[in-house]
Amino acid sequence: MTTVFGVDVGGSGIKGAEVDSARGELASERYRVKTPQPATPAAVVETISELVEHCGWDGPIGVTIPGVVQGGVVATAANIDEGWVGTNAEQLIAQSIGRPVRVLNDADAAGIAEMTYGAGLDVSGLVVMLTFGTGIGSALFMDGVLVPNTELGHLEFRGMEAEHFAAARLVERDEMELEPWAHRVGEYLRHLEKVLTPNLFIFGGGISKRYAELEEFLEVPTPVKPAALLNNAGIVGAALASRDLSQQ
Ligand code: BGC
Repeated sequence: MTTVFGVDVGGSGIKGAEVDSARGELASERYRVKTPQPATPAAVVETISELVEHCGWDGPIGVTIPGVVQGGVVATAANIDEGWVGTNAEQLIAQSIGRPVRVLNDADAAGIAEMTYGAGLDVSGLVVMLTFGTGIGSALFMDGVLVPNTELGHLEFRGMEAEHFAAARLVERDEMELEPWAHRVGEYLRHLEKVLTPNLFIFGGGISKRYAELEEFLEVPTPVKPAALLNNAGIVGAALASRDLSQQ
C-alpha cells in the first residue's frame, strides 16, 4: 500500500490523515484541530506542523487552502485571513516541517478525489464539481484533466457574488430552510449550465450528506451527482496531489 498524507485547511477546522493512494481511503484515523483565530499564515502553519507531528507522519504532505493557489503562492483570501495573499504557502510549510509540500485550492483537491475515486470516476467531457460550505468552491475537469482555480463561487449572480447567494452557510449558520436554499442552488446551477454546458455537476461540501432531501428542488436538466467522499474529499485530494513528491 502506498500511503500519502493530506491536510485540509478550512475556516473552522484543520483536518489531516494518511491516505491509501490506491483506494482513496483514509489509512489512519482523521485528526482534527480547530483553525486558529485569526487564521494568519504563521498560526496555521504552526497548527499544521503540530498536526503532522501528532500523526507521526514523516513524509511529504499535500495541503488545501480555500483560495486561489498558483505555484504554491496564495493569491486570494475570501474566507481566510488576508495575510495569506502573496504568501508562498508551499515554501512556508516546507520550511516549518522540513519536507516537500504541495499546496492547492480546496475545491480543486476535493474535485481530484471525486474524479479519481468518487462521483466523477470514468466520466469524460466537462465535469463541474462545486463545494458548498462557508463559500462556494469549484473545480473544472475536461476529460479528467483539472483546469485549476476556476472560482465559480465568485461569479456575479443576482446582483451579488454567487457564494453570498447560495453557499451552504445560509443553511448551516444563518438558519435558512433547506428547500428555499436548494431552489437558489438550482438557479445557480442552471446559470452555470447555460455558460458551460457541462456533462455532469458534482454536488460537494458537508451539506452533500443531505443531498437526498434537497435533490427534488434543484430542477437542473444536466445530471447532478452528490459527492461520494463527503468530508474526506479535501484530505484525499491533497494527499493525491503530493504523490509525485513522495517519489522524489
Ligand atoms: C474561495 C475559493 C474556495 C471556496 C471554498 C471561496 O470563497 O475563493 O478559493 O475554494 O471559497 O472554500
